[in-house]
Amino acid sequence: MTTGRDKPGYMVSSRDNAVLSWLETAGIDTSLPSPDRVYDAYLGGSHNTAVDRAFVEKAELILPAIKPLARNNRSFLRRAVKEAVAAGITQFLDIGSGAPTVGNVHEIALRANPDVHVVYVDSNTIAVQTSRLKLEEQGVTDRVTVIQEDMRNPDGILDHPDTRALLDFDRPICLMMVALLHFISDDDNPGELLAYYRDRLAPGSKLVLSHITCDNAPPEQQAQIAAFVDAYKNTTAHLYTRTHAEMTRLFDGWQIEAPGIVSPQDWRQDNPVDQNPESYHLGWCGVAGKV
Ligand SMILES: C[S@@+](CC[C@H](N)C(=O)[O-])C[C@H]1O[C@@H](n2cnc3c(N)ncnc32)[C@H](O)[C@@H]1O
Repeated sequence: MTTGRDKPGYMVSSRDNAVLSWLETAGIDTSLPSPDRVYDAYLGGSHNTAVDRAFVEKAELILPAIKPLARNNRSFLRRAVKEAVAAGITQFLDIGSGAPTVGNVHEIALRANPDVHVVYVDSNTIAVQTSRLKLEEQGVTDRVTVIQEDMRNPDGILDHPDTRALLDFDRPICLMMVALLHFISDDDNPGELLAYYRDRLAPGSKLVLSHITCDNAPPEQQAQIAAFVDAYKNTTAHLYTRTHAEMTRLFDGWQIEAPGIVSPQDWRQDNPVDQNPESYHLGWCGVAGKV
């Protein structure tokens, strides 16, 4: 097996070697960049290796707005969690949660309400293992857990004993799929999958989505996004952009809350520092409620 160590031209630090050894022991292919570690590197986190950072350098040359886009997405996630807790939600099911990074759902939610329960789900082994370590370190495993599952297997998530141990499906749950669905192709029918999740949740539940798009990007950025999507063909996950109309259909059966499906920078913004004209047109996000 080729590994991240064998790739020519990559600076590998001693910390990388520790991460790489751990990944290889777990049987994980480290020769390719992985979306959770790449995303962590966009955000300036530490759960990534030289192969991931080399990909990020290339991605930034292709799409210079990628880091502000990631930061704005994460900032939207933080605001959506705060608002959900303020609206009385105490249960979160965060699918495609990624590796722990800057401002995690459980940290934001527990700060606002210590009785909150959170179930993280990711299909990626390293994202799950690093999240588990973080939760153990923080001593919150009585209220927060993480499971390894694929979003395309809703029963595997919803009926997982660890999910059932923490979440009460007779009460509202905030279902989060933030920056996840652009890894799900139309062949996997995300609309049908979302309808299935919706039907399993109680009234008063919320759905939080964000997605990469190129709807309103100026022509030079359209080309950049096309090249960016191509670059992901060399990672462990492919990337798909979706339009505002497609994003709206993903919310079928939900009541979209104000201000609607907008750029992450426009969703109940509380910090003007997060504004960034370059990445403004590259994402859609929204929150909806189940009536
Ligand atoms: C860009 S990160 C988003 C992290 C976090 N939700 C956020 O927005 O800050 C996307 C995550 O989705 C995970 N992912 C991709 N496809 C998935 C699938 N089919 N099922 C579950 N997780 C998936 C990746 O492993 C990665 O950790």
